[in-house]
Order: sequence, then C-alpha cells, then structure tokens
Amino acid sequence: MASTPFEPGAAVPAGNIPLFVPELRGNEWKYLKECLDTNWVSSAGPFVDRFEQIMANYVGAGHAVAVVNGTAALHVALLVAGVEPDDEVLVSALTFIAPANAVRYAGASPVFIDAEPEYWQMDPQKLSDFVEKECAWANGRLSNKSTGRRVRAVMPVHILGHPCDMDAIVQVARKFDLLVIEDATESLGAKFRDTMVGHLGDIACFSFNGNKIITTGGGGMIVTDKKEWAERARYLTTQAKDDPVEYVHREIGYNYRLTNIQAALGCAQMEQLPAFIERKRSLAAHYSAALESVPGLTPMAEAPWARSVFWMYTVLVNETLYGEDSRALMRRMAQRGMQARPLWQPLHLSPVHAGGQFYGGEVAARLNRQALSLPCSVGLTERDQQAVIGIVRSSHG
Ligand SMILES: Cc1ncc(COP(=O)(O)O)c(C=O)c1O
Repeated sequence: MASTPFEPGAAVPAGNIPLFVPELRGNEWKYLKECLDTNWVSSAGPFVDRFEQIMANYVGAGHAVAVVNGTAALHVALLVAGVEPDDEVLVSALTFIAPANAVRYAGASPVFIDAEPEYWQMDPQKLSDFVEKECAWANGRLSNKSTGRRVRAVMPVHILGHPCDMDAIVQVARKFDLLVIEDATESLGAKFRDTMVGHLGDIACFSFNGNKIITTGGGGMIVTDKKEWAERARYLTTQAKDDPVEYVHREIGYNYRLTNIQAALGCAQMEQLPAFIERKRSLAAHYSAALESVPGLTPMAEAPWARSVFWMYTVLVNETLYGEDSRALMRRMAQRGMQARPLWQPLHLSPVHAGGQFYGGEVAARLNRQALSLPCSVGLTERDQQAVIGIVRSSHG
C-alpha cells in the first residue's frame, strides 16, 4: 500500500504544508556515516550506549534502555514493573491507542479514565473517585468492585507535549500502592514543576517515531531509577538470553533492541532538542496570540505548573460560535494543501477496546469532536504559519 500523507516521514507534495515532519539538520549524516564506516549497524554499538546515557542524563533518571519503538517500551515497562495477566491498569482515555494495546499485550485490562477539560490530560479527580468509590482496598490490594480484578498500576499519558497533573496522580497511586508507569512518548522535554516528564513515577517510556519531537525513524526508550528493572528490561528486550554463547533461554524474551543506526540518529537529534523545544514553544505562542480572539476557537493551554513542549499544536473548534466544525475546517485546510488532523478516538469508544471499563463523563468525547491539530513542524516557516493562521481565522472560507 502506498504511504498516506498522514504517515510520519511520508513525502509531502511541494507547496503543501505538512502537519509535522522531522528536522534532520544536525550531526545525523556524520553519525550515520560512522556506523557504516565501522560496520556497527545492528543492535549493539557505541551509539546505543551513548543514546541511553544521554537520555538518562536528560531526564534525570538512573537508567535508560533503548528499544525499537514506544509501544515496545510500554509493553516491557509493564512487565518489568510487575503488571500480571488479569491485573487492571488505569489509562488515560484520550490518547493514541498504543498504551491500551500494551496493557493487553501484558495480558492485563485497561480501565479508561476521562480527560480533564483544561489541559486535556488524565483527570486526577476522576482517577481518585474511581479508586475511592469503585474499588476496594483490603490486605494491601486494590480490587475493582465490578470485576474483582486487582488494580495494579496507573498509566498517565502526557499528551500533546503537556504533562499530567502528577502531584495529584502520584498521591492517589501512593495511597493505594499502585505503580506509576508514565507514557511520556509525546512529551520529551516537558516539565511538571521542576521535574522532567519521565522522572515523575516508577518507570517511563518515550517514542522516537517520525512524528515525535526528536526521531530515530522508529525507536523508543524505557527510563527508570530502579537498577533491577532496567537490567530486566535489557534482558527481556534482547531475547532473554541466559547463556549467549550456548543459546540458553529460560523465559520468553522479545527482539526489541534499538539498532546502532537508529541510536546514531537519536544522539544527533538530542543535541538539537533544546532548540527544537524553543521553536515549538514560539510557534505555539504565535498561534495562540493569533487565534485566541477568534470566536469559537480555544487554543491549547499551558498549566501554571507545567512547561509544555507543545509537541502537537491543537485548537478546539466550537461549531456554533466558529461557524463550522473541526472536520469542515480540516477539509477546508486540505483544499489549500495544509495538513490538519483531529485527535484520537477516545479509547473507551474504540471498537477494539470496547470491552474496557470507562470512568468519567463526556470530556474526552467532546475534545475528540472539537480538537484539530495544526501544522507545527520545527521547520515551519513564518510565511507558512501565517498562511495557516490566515485560513483558520477566516472561518467562512
Ligand atoms: C501516547 C503514545 N503512546 C505510545 C506511542 C507509541 O510509540 P511508537 O509509535 O514509537 O510505538 C505513541 C505514538 O506513536 C503515542 O502517541
């Protein structure tokens, strides 16, 4: 099947303004050449170790383990944290499907917690209400009253570059001995108060997919302060070799290790991350200043306790006040060669996770109807951003 224009890394026709394309203007070529010149192209090599070290240092975590993608990172993070088959994991309802799928790979079941309306992240009040009202705490174990299953972990997803309210979420988790597994795939570089996203729970995962703030083509990272978890993650992601010479394996492992070629890209991209974040923040500030006065448009916000990286710049479109809905605006932009995109179908409404329990109201569903992400590549020119603003401001074509 041919690439669609929505695929990260797909070629964009000349003159079009893509939603988000990678920025590869640093040492990428130099480091890739080093891989080819030295024959270190596969799943071991100096760039893998270096990329892990850079990521651990950046996030402030003790350890980092590089893997093939963010979904694999989530899968293994759940396993090493001790989530077991038939456990339940409390996951943000409004997010890409990967975290819910990862919970299912581990044999566990996701329970979806609604979003809060201000910053669109997992609602800590809904989380607390679910645990206090719908679960029972006995003998150091939290059970879901309606399913009888053990609730083992909470997986807050920091969506769109903005952190969840982690003080409130961690407080609930600590009270009921829940593991905190951060899906930080969309928010590398964001901060909750003074702490980096990815260092706010027990273990965290990043993605370096083509549409993320830095990319390795495809890739992911697990970060944690717990040495044993990191060692176990490294073991499970490299086929669980007990004796690498005699090929002895006592457990089912996974072929999830990142290659040196991808890690080389990652090292080059990390050198540019601070500049990327500055650029993303300034694009967001410019969009918000231009769009906040338009009736019916609500730009994405930044909490006073947050430093967002504005990974995917998004606005809410109120159909009645704006004059058309988010999908009509998307189509109008497409006619001018501008790529925009709605947010994900909330996971409790996703046919594949239809059996999953949901706790909350209508917030995620409303955000899904109203949200539209606008072109926000690091390399977006001022002229192109102005063109986008011009179309979005002119609500009636
Ligand atoms: C919230 C979220 N979690 C997980 C992933 C999975 O990452 P990957 O595509 O690297 O598997 C993504 C994006 O791709 C994501 O947006």
